[in-house]
Amino acid sequence: MKGIVLAGGAGSRLYPITRVYSKQLTLIYDKPLIYYPLSILMLGGIKDVLIISNKETIPHYKQLFEDGAFLGMNIEYAIQDAPNGIAESFILGENFIGNDGVTLVLGDNIFYGYLDFFYSALKNSVGATIFGYQVNDPQRYGIVEFNKEGNAISIEEKPIKPKSNFAVPGLYVYDNSVIDISKNLKPSARGELEITDVNKEYLKMGKLRVEKIGRGVAWLDTGTPEALLQASNFFGVIEERQGLKVACIEEIAYKMGFISTEKFNELLNSLPNCAYKDYLVRILSEDF
Ligand code: G1P
Repeated sequence: MKGIVLAGGAGSRLYPITRVYSKQLTLIYDKPLIYYPLSILMLGGIKDVLIISNKETIPHYKQLFEDGAFLGMNIEYAIQDAPNGIAESFILGENFIGNDGVTLVLGDNIFYGYLDFFYSALKNSVGATIFGYQVNDPQRYGIVEFNKEGNAISIEEKPIKPKSNFAVPGLYVYDNSVIDISKNLKPSARGELEITDVNKEYLKMGKLRVEKIGRGVAWLDTGTPEALLQASNFFGVIEERQGLKVACIEEIAYKMGFISTEKFNELLNSLPNCAYKDYLVRILSEDF
């Protein structure tokens, strides 16, 4: 299974925060936003990741993650020249994906809690698995409608009159046919290759699973300054309370066995003296 993080978008609703830096590099409490979606892929055991962004921002991601070797990963990069839509990821990533399946996570989507819904989706090798998450503001998202048996029967992108309150979060697990499906899409009215159209295609073929995510999982938005502050506060509260970090990619790489203790020590030595390093030193000495 390959992974893609799509970290594009102008972030215009966050201006002037995004005047110089892209949205996914802004902070959520104590680390850049992109650490959160990247960590979800890592927790799913995905080591091969393609980061897609515009040409101005790719150098920043390269500075952050290099080739991924320090995390025991292979991280590659691709440029999306224009905002042509989420589904373009699979066309840009065709060579990277090769013959594998692919999980796409949007670079501004944050998930927190038990990830069992994601782990079980990764076990399916045929078709697509997407998720449904109850929200208060369904007009802003892809919305899935279920029948009485709990099966998905329709998906609409940002409907004016939503048929349900179940939004489709930016985490999608596909088999390899997503590449061909994306290549055959027509741009929508807003000129984009829509991920919702990919999902509708799988639905038409009878190969779409939509799993509801329970209310114990947080899916947080990061589209506005208020949402950024709320997400920062959310993780600030949890990290302070537990003394454990969320989305600490170095810790995850170590705990997932992507890197050895020796490599983890090397990584520690490369960090400046700071609270983040102190935390990682604790990881080595304590069993939690
Ligand atoms: C995109 C998708 C939408 C999905 C949302 C999740 O919306 O088009 O279906 O529900 O991500 O964050 P956009 O970011 O383009 O507003």
